[in-house]
Amino acid sequence: MLEWIFATIPLFKVAHIAALLTWCGGLLALPLMLSRHDPNGFAEDYRKIRHATHNVYTLVVTPAAVLAVIAGTWLIFLRGVFVPWLFAKLAFVVLLVVAHVWIGHIVVKVAELPEDHNPPRPVLPLLAVSVPVVAILILVLAKPAFDGVRFPDWLLEPRGGQLPFEVPS
Ligand code: HEM
Repeated sequence: MLEWIFATIPLFKVAHIAALLTWCGGLLALPLMLSRHDPNGFAEDYRKIRHATHNVYTLVVTPAAVLAVIAGTWLIFLRGVFVPWLFAKLAFVVLLVVAHVWIGHIVVKVAELPEDHNPPRPVLPLLAVSVPVVAILILVLAKPAFDGVRFPDWLLEPRGGQLPFEVPS
């Protein structure tokens, strides 16, 4: 009856990958943009780069993150991937979200306290983003079985809730 829902898997995958490319690309660009902030330079240049970082964070990177998470969550149920590599991936997604919030905090501080606050050197935020991204890509592309690792049953078995459609086995 609800076969059409499964026909949307490729669409959600495209949306997921397009959104995560924008999200991760933006998170890598922002530390480099922040390193160009110089409150001692020309006021007009400072205003432009400050607006650019603010707009990239609020209008591009954050909406892309929300879309990537929504499409990814939907794919978990459509593809029925209740498997260890996905849980490991989600742990690294949490780290990526922490890096996202940290970079947002720097964007706000640079805008509100330009005279007191110098953005950190880009290397630390770049590492905070690239380590989880590389780990996530290894996990989703290699899909390791984690045979030697014992996961609690509640992570691997259905909890008795019912979705409005059948999940493929
Ligand atoms: C809460 C966030 C996320 C969730 C719930 C999620 C979930 C998923 C699911 C269920 C799939 C389909 C897997 C399959 O069809 O076997 C998928 C695919 C994929 N995800 Fe995510 N994901 C999230 C975030 C990310 C992030 C941040 C990245 C990269 C940095 C990423 C990279 C990918 C890639 C490359 C694929 C395609 C893998 C393939 O088809 O072989 N995901 N994701």
